[in-house]
Amino acid sequence: MPLRIGAVAIDFPVGLGALAGYSDLPYRLICRSLGAPYCITEAMLDRQVLLEGRLRKRLIRLDPADHPVAGQIMGVEPETMADAARSLDRMGFDIIDLNFACPVRKVVSHKRGGALMNDPERALATVRAVVDAVPGRPVTLKLRRAFRDADRTHESFWTIARGAFEAGASAIAVHARSVEQKYTGRADWGFLAEVKRAFPERTVLGSGDVSSPAEALRMMAETGVDGVLAARGAIGNPWFFAQARDLTAGRPPRQPGLDEQREVITRHYRLACEAYDPRRGLKILRHFSLQYAKMHPRRTDLRNALVKVRTEDEWRAVIDAFYSS
Ligand SMILES: Cc1cc2nc3c(=O)[nH]c(=O)nc-3n(C[C@H](O)[C@H](O)[C@H](O)COP(=O)(O)O)c2cc1C
Repeated sequence: MPLRIGAVAIDFPVGLGALAGYSDLPYRLICRSLGAPYCITEAMLDRQVLLEGRLRKRLIRLDPADHPVAGQIMGVEPETMADAARSLDRMGFDIIDLNFACPVRKVVSHKRGGALMNDPERALATVRAVVDAVPGRPVTLKLRRAFRDADRTHESFWTIARGAFEAGASAIAVHARSVEQKYTGRADWGFLAEVKRAFPERTVLGSGDVSSPAEALRMMAETGVDGVLAARGAIGNPWFFAQARDLTAGRPPRQPGLDEQREVITRHYRLACEAYDPRRGLKILRHFSLQYAKMHPRRTDLRNALVKVRTEDEWRAVIDAFYSS
């Protein structure tokens, strides 16, 4: 079941969605090593992408083992978004993804992210400017089903989706919640089915309530979307992708033992120290270990031990104590 986004071929239809605070290069590399075929960066402000020098280097990282990868941008002015897209294109991102979905109040009040679901004209001006700016590079959109929860006509959604495909967008990813819903309530998979029926020849990716590999496959089977973006379900479970591949092949999903979990967690720590610095690496891994603990048989004890950790030695001691088989 390969997936295609413009000229980019993706060998398996379950990828890692954009996750602020999680889908950075270290975690993307961990997910890649466990079968993720496609990953999206955290949302980046267009203005940050256009910064020069060291700050940009910290923010934007690519690695030969992390392809195909989409760089996701968020902004207000179509021309600034186009400049940021050009910049990501030159850096070697395979796909440019536009965020019209983020519900965070500060983002929406600055007319960015999910605010675009309420402003189809600006959304489409942005798509056109970005498509023109990066000829040959696939451009994708992350949308919500509507801005307001009560909106059952989804008029802005349809205007943006149709206009974007006409303007040359290669795919849309639809988070089947409204912007107002943020991350609560159920995602409307029935709406995903409607979207796929409306665009049978286009690439449509689904997002929302993909809580497990089995749910990822169920979303594709029930809605007909071409691919799925895992999000919260893949935080702390990078085996998600290998498990989805197992289920697709009719094998029982791989269940990593404690030794393998420890190997992945310590590798993640090394990658985070390399990408940032040891202090930030520890901070990130302390936070991530609480998520990895979801898979541990003594998760409550482990979490209680992890929240007390202050130093690298303490962190390592907890990991060694809980993850030896
Ligand atoms: C902590 C967190 C950060 C997120 N950051 C982004 C982001 O930067 N860009 C984006 O398009 N979506 C972002 N999302 C939305 C997810 O990609 C996904 O669409 C959403 O969580 C619904 O999927 P789920 O119900 O399976 O988690 C984020 C979600 C969470 C929970």
